[in-house]
Amino acid sequence: MNLVVVSNRVSRGKPNEPMTGGLAAALLPIVEKSGAIWVGSSGRVRDGNQKEPFAEIEALGAGALAMLDLPAAHYGGYYEGFANSALWPALHSRADLIRASHEDYLSYREVNAFMARALLRFRKSDSAFWIQDYHFLALGAELRDLGVTEPIGFFLHTPWPARSVIGGVPHHRELIEAMLAYDLIGFQTEEDCENFLSYAQADLGLAVHDGVILSRHGRTRAAVFPIGIDPQQFAQLATKASTHPDVSRLRRSLNGEKLAIGVDRLDYSKGLINRIKAFDRMWTLHPSLARTVSLLQIATPSRGAIEAYGNLQSDVAKLVSDVNGVHGEVDWTPIRYLNKGYGQAVLAGLYRTAQVGVVTPLQDGMNLVAKEYVAAQNPVDPGVLVLSKFAGAANELDTALLVNPHDIDGMARIIAMALSMPLTERRMRWEAMMAKLRGHTIQQWFADFTDALRECQLDRDALAP
Ligand code: G6P
Repeated sequence: MNLVVVSNRVSRGKPNEPMTGGLAAALLPIVEKSGAIWVGSSGRVRDGNQKEPFAEIEALGAGALAMLDLPAAHYGGYYEGFANSALWPALHSRADLIRASHEDYLSYREVNAFMARALLRFRKSDSAFWIQDYHFLALGAELRDLGVTEPIGFFLHTPWPARSVIGGVPHHRELIEAMLAYDLIGFQTEEDCENFLSYAQADLGLAVHDGVILSRHGRTRAAVFPIGIDPQQFAQLATKASTHPDVSRLRRSLNGEKLAIGVDRLDYSKGLINRIKAFDRMWTLHPSLARTVSLLQIATPSRGAIEAYGNLQSDVAKLVSDVNGVHGEVDWTPIRYLNKGYGQAVLAGLYRTAQVGVVTPLQDGMNLVAKEYVAAQNPVDPGVLVLSKFAGAANELDTALLVNPHDIDGMARIIAMALSMPLTERRMRWEAMMAKLRGHTIQQWFADFTDALRECQLDRDALAP
């Protein structure tokens, strides 16, 4: 199988490259090892209607990376517009934030069609295509229109919401019908998969049997493939990172004080406001924790041209400053707040330095930071993960301290509990989580999805006239 993987964002795999989001971090090692070709956006745009888009191709381990310049006239409508101002909020159950014009939708479809044409260049006799995430819901249908008969799979890294919420996206019906051109659609959790199947059945009126949807495109299988990490490799990174200057400086600056860490893209789905309010509450309720525990919150700026993100950036900055103003001392800052990105080599060391990892999104497909925090811990003295029950990771990491991110008092209580958890309990919980991580690695995720895609092909061959 000559696998072509497609995503909007790609990574070049440079050790200190800041990782924006879990998707690129997850795909990098599998492209490097499997020999797949990974096609995505270069981040640059081009004018004109060139038929063959410019692609920069470079080796990436055993695989290759091809970066395309997307069409300038449609990029904004596609990326800031339909993908991140209509689909992203809806997929994270924030229908109130949906903003999209008809032009944005047309640009989204144009970029999907453009990517489909570009992919023909990488098509070989036994190709299979694996499309990633909500930027390219219609790419499978565009490929079929160009005559591609090879297997095409799709994996959604975000949640898939209830029918009534996805129904708030303009053109939802047309788009979801287009998704049925995929042979296989993968989701992070059972709930996401069920929500999708129930839309197909109730809104599109299609027959669904054992996760297979029958439509004019043929059979589409929907199934669950929870994404993982390489826990062993991440643990090695964390051990190595202990001598990294940023990590040593952090350790020295703590003076025996405990540290909680949060690492997120600056996104409204991540629950940053509620998290900071929970720390505020905790320091108010337990004054003895002032000076003895601080929060390091890394919030990497993301999608800054979109109004909702700009507003969030100001709201978080103001709240951090208010909380620091109230609880801080001349020689103590409760929240260390950083608006920049770090490479995984440093992050691994920062995670290991923190006694508590706080991962409290309001909604999240999986959240690989939760998994990385666990993998980075020192086995003899592991930290505690405080995890939102609305992150996909909570299905597997059920021995984390699970919290409701809307319940600020509850989170304050549980973070305080995490800080005083005895070693034996910390170890028990950590070992159970590590066992889950070892059982569902990123390599396993890749193998499970590509095996299932191969099976879809066999089914199709068997049904062919
Ligand atoms: C999430 C999405 C990814 C996206 C990443 C970073 O993880 O699922 O598709 O690449 O966020 O977002 P950005 O818009 O910066 O690519």
